[in-house]
Amino acid sequence: MSEVSADVLERVVRDEERHLEELLEYLRIPSVSTDPAYAEDVRACSRWLAEKMRAAGLEVELIERGGGNPMVYGEWTGAEGAPTVLFYGHYDVQPPDPLEQWRSPPFEPTIEGDHLVARGATDDKGQSYTHLKAVEAMLAERGRLPVNVKFLVEGEEEIGGESIDAYVREDAGRRLACDGVVVSDTSMYAPGQPALLYGLKGLCYMEITVDGPDRDLHSGSFGGAVMNPGNAVCAIVASLRDPATGRIRIPGFYDAVRPIEDWERKEFASLGHDEAEYAAAIGVGELVGEDGYTTLERVWARPTCDVNGLWSGYQGAGAKTVLPATAGAKVSMRLVPDQDPKEIARLFAEHVRKVAPKGVRVAVKDLHGGEAVLIDATGPWFEAASDVFEAEWGKRPVLIREGGSIPIVSTFAEVLEVPVLLAGLGLDDDRLHSPNEKFNISHYHGGIRTMVRLLDRLASVEGGES
Ligand code: BES
Ligand code: ZN
Repeated sequence: MSEVSADVLERVVRDEERHLEELLEYLRIPSVSTDPAYAEDVRACSRWLAEKMRAAGLEVELIERGGGNPMVYGEWTGAEGAPTVLFYGHYDVQPPDPLEQWRSPPFEPTIEGDHLVARGATDDKGQSYTHLKAVEAMLAERGRLPVNVKFLVEGEEEIGGESIDAYVREDAGRRLACDGVVVSDTSMYAPGQPALLYGLKGLCYMEITVDGPDRDLHSGSFGGAVMNPGNAVCAIVASLRDPATGRIRIPGFYDAVRPIEDWERKEFASLGHDEAEYAAAIGVGELVGEDGYTTLERVWARPTCDVNGLWSGYQGAGAKTVLPATAGAKVSMRLVPDQDPKEIARLFAEHVRKVAPKGVRVAVKDLHGGEAVLIDATGPWFEAASDVFEAEWGKRPVLIREGGSIPIVSTFAEVLEVPVLLAGLGLDDDRLHSPNEKFNISHYHGGIRTMVRLLDRLASVEGGES
């Protein structure tokens, strides 16, 4: 190899087995942020990561804000005059349920061919750990880095990222001063086709609870005489969306929506998205959504409203004649620029109160939210990222949007005012948030090599201020 990064690239290839072993160790820690039962594991995970950062040669600190999960901060700032990169990731994971659908236990990572199967394999332990292994290898090989690096890895991304938001705003670019942020928590467009994202959706996550009689009732003795909370929650949920057009019926919901631009519609169309293949890959016969938009437009650039959970009444085997005393729904709305999550939460609550049937008590709670983001994907940082992805994966990345959310990204863009590279290493079939989540082992090692190349490439990028 005659290229700039050859020394370190050779080293990371030699170290592949250890890199994989370490990732397996990381994945064995069940750092589920949404469930308090895992609180100790979340903390243990932050300490494990801090230790690995120290071992790699970074100065490390655990940062806590308002009783939230610790953030792991690390830095190496010995490259005077060179640009500074802030690497972001999250060590928390989604709950593993439904457990019975996993082929192997979610926190006992299992290798199946090129797939590493475990909760968090791609989202986001596997992807974000590539950053640290690249930095570690370079420090081990050369004793120094060509750029300054800072790491901020949080433990609350999957629950809205409140602590990190408070921290980034309070820091206001002092300790976190940098020339660009690198995030690997998204997917490539397709196998062999890397992508840089310029848009993520925002989120507004609401919970509705409906209370009726003071206990479950015989459905014959009382049916017809009282409002059934199960029926009530169905009526409320049904009011949210027009089944004929796919439009959301919450008054004011679309008021602030920034329309998709013509050039974007053309770009999306030029990707040649195969709708039949997409439908087949997720086991549906037909794709359904808002009238007037293609699937990519619906998923990437139009706001949505979906039930994420729904409960009421008897769920066991066979029939039980009962009127449930309570019911509830978890509903998430994916937002686009310039919808404000707080305003959407207010409109949602107002609408639910208005349509709530008489005879039940309905409560609406705002669980969390985050803003959508659109990034100006031009300039030397994006060029640099495109170059290194091309060098490693053989193709220049396409610029796309995504339907997922990473709440802190809009805050980074707003507070730090630097480019944010959404340089994903995952694939669409990685089953994030689903049973049997996986990460292709070749993407893990390829990701480490990509990050090695990026560190070298960014050293020559103009506009470094630090
Ligand atoms: N890695 C995802 C975000 C993502 C998924 C981006 C797919 C692009 C494509 C991230 O970990 C995630 O799941 N975020 C949550 C955030 C929410 C809980 C605020 C999400 O999008 O549901
Ligand atoms: Zn996730």
